[in-house]
Amino acid sequence: MTVMQPTTTPPGRVLMEVFGCQMNVVDAELVLGRFRKLAYEETQDYDAADVIVFNTCSVRGHAEDRVISRLGALRDWKKAKANRVLAVMGCMAQREARDIRRRLPHVDLITGTKDFPKLAELAQRVRAGEGPFVVIDGTERPDVERLPTTRPKPFQAYVTIMRGCNRPCTYCIVPTVRGREISRPVDEVVDEVKALVDEGVVEVCLLGQTVNAYDGQLPGQVTLGTLLRRLDAIAGLKRLRFITSHPTDFNDDTFAAMAECSRLDRFLHMPIQSGSDRMLRAMRRGYTVDKYRAIVDRVRAAIPDMQVGCDWIVGFPGETEADHEASLAVCEEMRFSQSFVFKYSPRPGTVSAESMVDDVDNETKKRRNNELLDVQARVSLTSHQQLVGRELDVLFEGRSRLDDTKWAGRDPAHRIVCVEDERIREGAFARVRIDRCSALTLFGSVVAVHDASR
Ligand code: SAH
Ligand code: SF4
Ligand code: F3S
Repeated sequence: MTVMQPTTTPPGRVLMEVFGCQMNVVDAELVLGRFRKLAYEETQDYDAADVIVFNTCSVRGHAEDRVISRLGALRDWKKAKANRVLAVMGCMAQREARDIRRRLPHVDLITGTKDFPKLAELAQRVRAGEGPFVVIDGTERPDVERLPTTRPKPFQAYVTIMRGCNRPCTYCIVPTVRGREISRPVDEVVDEVKALVDEGVVEVCLLGQTVNAYDGQLPGQVTLGTLLRRLDAIAGLKRLRFITSHPTDFNDDTFAAMAECSRLDRFLHMPIQSGSDRMLRAMRRGYTVDKYRAIVDRVRAAIPDMQVGCDWIVGFPGETEADHEASLAVCEEMRFSQSFVFKYSPRPGTVSAESMVDDVDNETKKRRNNELLDVQARVSLTSHQQLVGRELDVLFEGRSRLDDTKWAGRDPAHRIVCVEDERIREGAFARVRIDRCSALTLFGSVVAVHDASR
């Protein structure tokens, strides 16, 4: 491939829209870094943009529908000025490149989940009159280079430590669109985190679809625990998290490291998906409720204040009222600190979409979704009430979305804490006494502001 010199087509402005999970947030950042290298500026203004990039998600039908309708709405934007580029990257690009080109011919650049490092240069070529380009051959190693760029918050960063997924969950499109699991070497991740800390990052969240299966490309010698210990030793890093854990992928070394690492958050995101063994089997999750419970018990024995957060799917094919009742009971019993609940959405090509009937109607899915959220709200409220009067360390992330007179942050268990205090700013650490609470939020008063974030 010949690389265009930025001088041939003048650099322009790029607008990035991110759909989907945190992996896409990082990938968007990697792409923006490359645009910046070509002297592009970032913009939020559609009229000013020369290039619009959509980083897309395929996990549920709704995620794809939103992208299709938003892309459709950009037909006029594309026509209004010559040499504008509309690019699509991410999981949906990987899965549906041909379909997108057919239905939305004004999209002139599509890159797959491993090809996005080429996107910025290809966009330059499209602006110069070449293309359209569809590149989904999966030949790149996306994480080799993390160029300095803007992150949503300068003091927080996501770091992808592995890509892909090897698990057989029958409902899930992720293995198809993201490919086989591959970990990054320990030293590469450590160097990236050190560089981020040098730039002012104080909180790092490690990403992987089954992040506790991390092996640093040295299975048997390296675990997630190996990496946690190395990262915990980096001066200046104050908080460390990892998402998402799979219940069957933990090992003794990782549990031991979790107990040792003082900067590790007291929050473990470990989806259960259902409280019914029958459903777990149909989903091919690889564990029973008893096994899941045993892992939670082990985690809480090793780290007593560890909070566990969870994902659920309601309305999976064949889910009866009894299966759903089992999920409600398990949600109550496990005292999760938060639950994300999703209505089952058949994804073309997955085992469940091809061989099972989507037989739970949407109304029932909605009701079950709400019932699970209601149980979670009760559990959260009770556990929040026990924190009233206690003091927590909070990293403030910005103004509260619901009330901009308040600052919102998170404690080490990832709970949302709001205060009203003029000494607080984005990135500040403070000790906060909890005065009152709701199911979603803790409200408190600042006892002491700690050192600045950098
Ligand atoms: N790798 C992570 C989750 C990836 S997708 C894990 O295994 O836990 C995030 C969440 O989306 C999943 O936990 C699941 O709850 C939900 N999800 C995935 N596929 C879905 C589908 N087809 N319909 C509804 N929810 C789905
Ligand atoms: Fe999907 Fe299962 Fe892999 Fe998670 S573990 S990404 S749900 S296949
Ligand atoms: Fe969506 Fe892809 Fe993430 S399907 S949830 S953006 S891995």
